[in-house]
Amino acid sequence: MTLWDGRFNQKTDDLVAKFSESISFDKRLYAHDISGSIAHVTMLAECGIITDNDAGSIIKELTNIQSEIEAGSFQFDEQYEDIHMNIENALINRLGDTGAKIHTARSRNDQIATDTRLYLRDEIDQINNLLNQLKLSIVDVAAKHLHVIMPGFTHLQHAQPVLFAHHLLAYTEMFHRDGCRLNDCRKRINKLPLGSGALAGTSLLINRDMVADLLKFDGVTRNSMDAVSDRDYFIEFLSTLSIFMMHMSRLSEDVIYWVSQECSFIELSDTFCTGSSLMPQKKNPDVAELTRGKTGRVYGDLFSLLTMMKGLPLCYNRDMQEDKEPLFDAIDTVKLILSVYAPMIRNIKVNESIMKNAASDPDLMATDLAEWLVNRNIPFRTAHKKVGTLVGYCQENGITLDQVSLDQIKELIPECNEECLLLFDPEKSINSRNITGGTSGEQVKKQIEFWKTELNADI
Ligand code: ARG
Repeated sequence: MTLWDGRFNQKTDDLVAKFSESISFDKRLYAHDISGSIAHVTMLAECGIITDNDAGSIIKELTNIQSEIEAGSFQFDEQYEDIHMNIENALINRLGDTGAKIHTARSRNDQIATDTRLYLRDEIDQINNLLNQLKLSIVDVAAKHLHVIMPGFTHLQHAQPVLFAHHLLAYTEMFHRDGCRLNDCRKRINKLPLGSGALAGTSLLINRDMVADLLKFDGVTRNSMDAVSDRDYFIEFLSTLSIFMMHMSRLSEDVIYWVSQECSFIELSDTFCTGSSLMPQKKNPDVAELTRGKTGRVYGDLFSLLTMMKGLPLCYNRDMQEDKEPLFDAIDTVKLILSVYAPMIRNIKVNESIMKNAASDPDLMATDLAEWLVNRNIPFRTAHKKVGTLVGYCQENGITLDQVSLDQIKELIPECNEECLLLFDPEKSINSRNITGGTSGEQVKKQIEFWKTELNADI
């Protein structure tokens, strides 16, 4: 027996039931399915479509079912396909005709759209909270190491000295944009599709706005055909998670590089690393590596959905049941990564002197000399060329910029004087970049103040 077999003469083949069930994974929507049903039934009674008594009994039984699911005593059955029919079937078993009224003016097509919107709203809030924890741990490490100097890279080559905090806070910017994108996506999720029926609405005089209010939606969807066909909100959400994972993967790549023997800029706490079963000396940055690896998995989830949707005619098609596993997988992956990454970052050990040493190569201050010349009215392109000649001279003679005598410098760049010799100091170089967005101590302090206010943190 199923809830839709009126026109059938034969029972569904067991294999087909197994093939088409979704209860094994959509049961995680139970709480949202039940709160959607409670709001729906409350509205049906308010509109006089069912009696207050019936609504009362249904709501009471839905609450019991929820407690049983949470206690692990509710029997889910593959035969009833999905979360909607498992719950409805239990209601009918327990309440008879009264239970059979719950699906009035409703289809599973608008029901699943409602459940997933409710579910995603909650997940977005949880992910944003976890994301804030990660931002906080980055800001905390940045604030504690405000004086630490490192080489900034372009093309993975030492480029110019920067504050380590400045580099870290670049990630806070990325994660902040990710949070904003999640909130923006949440706004579009926050419309109620229930009342769209299977595709065309209902002839019954229901009150959709009331259900929207009860479920704290911002309003109702405008077009029933779109409302039951739309999975843009899944795709938008997964795109946002994919961008977030791309950021996590880049941070992971930095971490992996920073802990490498070649770099040794930071050390991870033993509690966040694993060893090798063969090489006794190994301490591997697995969390960062797995995060980089899991990025592909989340992109895959996005692509499953984009591909699944691209050929579907309006309105609902059963293909769309395939939307949930990639969604759940991406959510689980992202939440797991966020919960492990925040404490890992908070516990890094910073090798200040190694970083500073790497940033002290006078070549990294070549741009400072070019800019010094610009301040003496030399066109930048000319200054760039002159300093380039000086760098070439040093390379030919196997010396560094600060080892050239002033006389030799003057031979190549007559505008130079003894002030130039003071330019090859990474700290000075950093503090001279004192414009909004620059790496000077003053500017980085301002960034930290901004994040403290933004994240409401007492660091
Ligand atoms: N389990 C289905 C899904 O996840 C619910 C909607 C099914 N609708 C239908 N007419 N078979 O998509």
